[in-house]
Amino acid sequence: MAPSALIADEPLRSFLQALHGQSLTQEAGVEWSALPPQTSDAFDDIMRDKFIALDQDKCELVYHILRSIKATTIVEAGTSFGVSTIYLALAAAQNAHAESKPAKVIATEKEPSKAARAQEIWAQAGKKIEDMIDLRIGDLRETLAKDLGEVDFLLLDIWTPLSLPALKAVQPSLRRGAVIVADNTLKATQGYQDLFDYVDAEGSGFKRVTLPYTGGLDMVIYQ
Ligand SMILES: C[S@@+](CC[C@H](N)C(=O)[O-])C[C@H]1O[C@@H](n2cnc3c(N)ncnc32)[C@H](O)[C@@H]1O
Repeated sequence: MAPSALIADEPLRSFLQALHGQSLTQEAGVEWSALPPQTSDAFDDIMRDKFIALDQDKCELVYHILRSIKATTIVEAGTSFGVSTIYLALAAAQNAHAESKPAKVIATEKEPSKAARAQEIWAQAGKKIEDMIDLRIGDLRETLAKDLGEVDFLLLDIWTPLSLPALKAVQPSLRRGAVIVADNTLKATQGYQDLFDYVDAEGSGFKRVTLPYTGGLDMVIYQ
C-alpha cells in the first residue's frame, strides 16, 4: 500500500473511503465521451446528482501540501458534495492548532442542491470539519470576488472554462509562495489552454509543473 501523510481518526478515514467509493461508482456510469459542453445547462443537469470528487490520492497530496506550507486560508473552486473540502478542512484545522492562529476554507458551489448535500456530508464528517468551512453558494466569479483574506492555497477542481476566471478572482488575494492545484490537466489540456497561457506568460509571477497523476494534476506556485 502506498504511504499516506493523512492524519485522521478512524471513523473519518472510513467515511472518506466510502465517499470516494460512491463517487467512483457514479463516474463508472457516466458516458464521458458523449457529454454536452461544460458550460451548458444540459451538462449541469447530468452533473447535479454526481460527486465527481477529486481522486483520493490527489486529495491526500493536496492535504500534504497544505500541511507543508502551513496553509490557513484555503480556497476551493468547485465544491460539489464537498469530498475534497473535507481534506482541506482537516489540514486547515490541524494547521490552525499547530500555528495557534485561525484558519478557514472558503468553498464555493453554484448548485444549491449540491451545496446542501455538501453541508450534510460535512456535518457527518464532524464539527471540527464543519466549523472550518465558509461555504459560498453561487457563481464563483461573484462568490470569490471579495472577503478572502490572504490566500495560501487555491484548488481548481472546476469545469475548465471556469479555471482562469477563478484564478483571476483569487489572484489579488494570493500571498507570494501560494500554491494552486488544478485537476485533470493532461486529460483536459485543451480546456485549460487559456489558464496555461496566462500562467506560463513571461512575468506572470506563476511557475507551473504537471504531476503524473491519473488525468494529470498541475501544481502552480505564485512567486
Ligand atoms: C469537479 S466538481 C468539484 C468536486 C469537489 N472538489 C470534490 O472533490 O468533491 C466541480 C463543481 O463545480 C461546480 N461549478 C461549476 N461552475 C461553477 C461556478 N461558476 N461557480 C461555482 N461552482 C461551479 C459544479 O456544479 C460542480 O459541482
